[in-house]
Amino acid sequence: MKAIALIKTGNAATAFEVREIAKPQPQKGEVLIKVDTFGLNFADVMARKGMYKDAPPLPAILGYDVAGTVDAIGENVSTLKIGDRVTAMTRFGGYAEYAVTNASAVAVIPDNIDNATATALTTQYCTAYYAAAEMVNLHEGDKVLIQAGAGGVGTALIQYAKYKKCEIFATAGSDTKLNYLSSLGVHHPINYATQDFEIEIKNLIGEGKGVDVIFDAVGGKSVKKGFRLLAPGGRIVCYGAADLTNKNLFGKLKAVLDFGLYHPLMLIALSKAIIGINMLHIADDKPSVLNRCLEEVVQLTSQGVFTPTLSKVFNAVDIAAAHEYLEKRKSIGKVVMRWS
Ligand SMILES: NC(=O)c1ccc[n+]([C@@H]2O[C@H](COP(=O)([O-])OP(=O)(O)OC[C@H]3O[C@@H](n4cnc5c(N)ncnc54)[C@H](OP(=O)(O)O)[C@@H]3O)[C@@H](O)[C@H]2O)c1
Repeated sequence: MKAIALIKTGNAATAFEVREIAKPQPQKGEVLIKVDTFGLNFADVMARKGMYKDAPPLPAILGYDVAGTVDAIGENVSTLKIGDRVTAMTRFGGYAEYAVTNASAVAVIPDNIDNATATALTTQYCTAYYAAAEMVNLHEGDKVLIQAGAGGVGTALIQYAKYKKCEIFATAGSDTKLNYLSSLGVHHPINYATQDFEIEIKNLIGEGKGVDVIFDAVGGKSVKKGFRLLAPGGRIVCYGAADLTNKNLFGKLKAVLDFGLYHPLMLIALSKAIIGINMLHIADDKPSVLNRCLEEVVQLTSQGVFTPTLSKVFNAVDIAAAHEYLEKRKSIGKVVMRWS
């Protein structure tokens, strides 16, 4: 089968090679999926740049999410059958014509969801759902700030916050993306490339008031400012550090320090919480939680609550162009690759 191997960290143009490798075999509890579409995630960009510590050693087949059909089933799998059309979270290995994964990370796709759309559901929508529904439990009227709202996870968070009737503040880095945020129903879109989001939000809600929940995958000073914006009872969910991308060592160290230092006594005194999320660790340590989130996400998509935005569908062999597109912040919603 064909697979796209990351052979060298650095620029997208020289990082990948399409290789012929052996088709994987499903072990106990696993299924083999014939991949039609696979997705890109920002973590792939971090892995390609050598900044992702969970990534496998080179040459590595990246890829967290695939959609296609079940091709073979390992022992002890009773929930799926050969021929089922499915979406799945892969623990790497998604950039390939066939991928194996644990059955708990696989969901059957209803007829009203196509494969490309389903590709967005496993990593990006599950992360958003786990963060917003399980870790935070949004309520009607909550003031919610979603950083980098026009991205894959950002879009999912906005759609969930809208479903929960929250007042939504969301940031993005261009006017095109701001228009997109408005189209999703964001009440207060903010261009964080040209405006200081902390000042803008203080102006909107009034000095001395705060927001209830913040979702932040930008990191660095964005977290420090966000923490200051929280009202008592407020929670900031940290799930990424995009700010560390494309910085030299000194810049990275500065960004790490910019997050700020927080002591539990300070959290008690202020009645604020900081939550960290790593979906890979949830998938590894709590497969039933991932399965619950995935089933719920598929349901909500089938009902039209979640409507993933497909930014662009690339041919699988155009992986370098797709990586550049994501890295250069051109994407809105999900970047999908298709074998054809
Ligand atoms: N912890 C977890 O389990 C988990 C799971 C999934 C995703 N994540 C994280 O969540 C974030 C979103 O992931 P995604 O796959 O949905 O990606 P994405 O949001 O579709 O794409 C990344 C976006 O981040 C924004 N950004 C901010 N600073 C950036 C920088 N220095 N360089 C490039 N982009 C920057 C850009 O939007 P603007 O142009 O609007 O700034 C860009 O479009 C990523 O940080 C990812 O690592 C974490």
